[in-house]
Amino acid sequence: MTLAQIIGTGSYAPSQVITNKDLEKVVDTSDEWITERTGIKERRQAAPGEATSDMAVAAAREALALSGTRPEEVDLIVVGTITADMPMPSCAAFVQAKLGAKNAFAFDVAAACAGALYAMSVAEQFIRTGRVKRALVIGADLFTRIVNWKDRNTCVLFGDGAGAMVLAPSEDPQRGILSTHLRTDGALAEILAVPAGGSKEPVTEETLRTQRHKLTMNGREVFKCAVRALSDTTQEALASCGLVPAQVDHVIAHQANMRILEAVMQRLEVPVEKCWINLDKYGNTSAASLPMSLDEACRAGRIKRGDLVAMLAIGAGMTWGSAVVRW
Ligand code: COA
Repeated sequence: MTLAQIIGTGSYAPSQVITNKDLEKVVDTSDEWITERTGIKERRQAAPGEATSDMAVAAAREALALSGTRPEEVDLIVVGTITADMPMPSCAAFVQAKLGAKNAFAFDVAAACAGALYAMSVAEQFIRTGRVKRALVIGADLFTRIVNWKDRNTCVLFGDGAGAMVLAPSEDPQRGILSTHLRTDGALAEILAVPAGGSKEPVTEETLRTQRHKLTMNGREVFKCAVRALSDTTQEALASCGLVPAQVDHVIAHQANMRILEAVMQRLEVPVEKCWINLDKYGNTSAASLPMSLDEACRAGRIKRGDLVAMLAIGAGMTWGSAVVRW
């Protein structure tokens, strides 16, 4: 079967910067604590009125331009997000309309911070089977609207953004997305969640008062799960291609916490220098984080033709996965 290849990338971050110092005025925290425990120095916040689809479209336009794809040539749009513009319809529907991608069918994938990796895996299947020639994969999230700004455990970690990639059939049978491995453990759903606002617990005055429509997290449990899951699944994805971590040239990873990344790289025995890091500038941008990192690494000229790239991401669910790409 024909492999899918990433032929263009793009990203978008809102212009409003929130520094750790700014957060010292919002919650009982310090630049020192946040920097030491997470590696984050600042994050971006969407402007009032700016929606997730607006950020997604900005990133998508860059990816389309770089790949030389016109909007009407796109057959499929998959948006990884859990902060769509509204509960219904999907964020992808708005993206399709705003781009004028009138020949594309479009839908969202809900896998939180692993959203773009899941979306890429879905799109890749359509390309491999020949059903689709051009797919637009987007990760976009607007977490500053779902964090509890009174909870110092979570509000310091997240920021807003979007990243995009265009997939097409690879012309070279050796190059492209070699494998994707996706995993879920729903028994861990409660450690990272937005409890209210869905069918189980619709928004009421009480949920608003108790902030249950905002993000809640057991940070230590998430941390432990992330380190184990990301290193195991990366090993699996590589092994399925007959490869080992020592052969990896670049790691493009979900940017949640510098200590998680260091621990994962240590377990894989891959030097941390091979991992693109931008969480100091953007914090955790959820589904946007992986495609934003990929776009930055590509535009910086870091990834060369023929390089082996390992991608890894984890999010609420818990959902996680890895992909191996020969660039
Ligand atoms: N500023 C200052 N102190 C803070 C703080 C903040 N922003 N957030 C938490 N603390 C405090 C806690 O209240 C706790 O105080 P206590 O000991 O008096 O109770 C103390 O710091 C230590 O908390 P702990 O949870 O042990 O810290 P930690 O070293 O585990 O770091 C996280 C906390 C959240 C940074 C870390 O657990 C983490 O990154 N987890 C993964 C989160 C994540 O990546 N989520 C998204 C996944 S996609």
